[in-house]
Amino acid sequence: MSDSRETFVNHAFVAGYPIKHSRSPLIHGYWLKQFKIAGTYRAYEVTPEAFPNFMRELKDGTAGLCGGNVTIPHKEAAFRLSDRPDELSAELGAANTLWLEDGAICATNTDGRGFVANLDERAAGWDRISTAVVLGAGGASRAVTQAIRDRGVKTIHVVNRTIEKARELADRFGTPVHAHPMTALAEVMSGAGLFVNTTSLGMDGETAPMIDFSPMAREAVVTDIVYVPLKTPLLAQAEAQGFRIVDGLGMLLHQAVPGFEKWFGRRPVVDETLRQIIIRDM
Ligand code: ATR
Repeated sequence: MSDSRETFVNHAFVAGYPIKHSRSPLIHGYWLKQFKIAGTYRAYEVTPEAFPNFMRELKDGTAGLCGGNVTIPHKEAAFRLSDRPDELSAELGAANTLWLEDGAICATNTDGRGFVANLDERAAGWDRISTAVVLGAGGASRAVTQAIRDRGVKTIHVVNRTIEKARELADRFGTPVHAHPMTALAEVMSGAGLFVNTTSLGMDGETAPMIDFSPMAREAVVTDIVYVPLKTPLLAQAEAQGFRIVDGLGMLLHQAVPGFEKWFGRRPVVDETLRQIIIRDM
């Protein structure tokens, strides 16, 4: 007699194009092992042309997947093609975490939550500030700006090379957000308690412009969402100028928590072993 019992295994994904450099399989693989969950989390290289079909197969079950993450360049399409985007992703127009509920694709965006969780962990009390400066006005900047606005930061100066993009972002978020060109950087930094770099400046050891952080409040925190290298040229400069710095790796780790909990039913913890696993892989 055959055994008709089925072992229920959840399979989750990260879809992107390209996807080779994604660290998400390492993160979720670590937690799956830690909780001894018989699930999988795999990377899928999906071109923009193939993405709508990927979403169809996720929804109708033929993909055999319970949900997953999407990364560049699919975050906007994932939002548009989902059935039940939450408020956070709707305001951003982009989603990075998907899961199935009653045959519908639900969507959220966890980038902002990852960003503030990292600051909470490494710079507790950071949210007592009233003014922040966000460099950059792309997708990452949108998520960061939304998250710090939701934590009550009263004035957020978004500074960007292309001023139109900063204005678009300020229009989207309203009152607390102000748009500025790069030439206004020193001025808006005056007295600010938080500086966030959301641009790729300094990524992979690229040279970054010198920034004088001295106009900022003495106890200000400087953080970068780039995490390769861990100490970006901007962070090194800020540290040398006597400011508290927070690297971007924690944002990557913390943004993964809500997804894992949705797909596998356990709330994972970002610990030092996980951090070291990712650092060794860099
Ligand atoms: P992401 O989704 O990671 O935020 P993005 O949407 O492409 O990526 O946005 C990249 C951001 O980095 C933009 O604000 C971009 O400035 P522009 O809007 O002027 O393009 C900024 N950026 C990238 N390279 C830059 C550079 N060399 N100098 C200044 N800003 C740069």
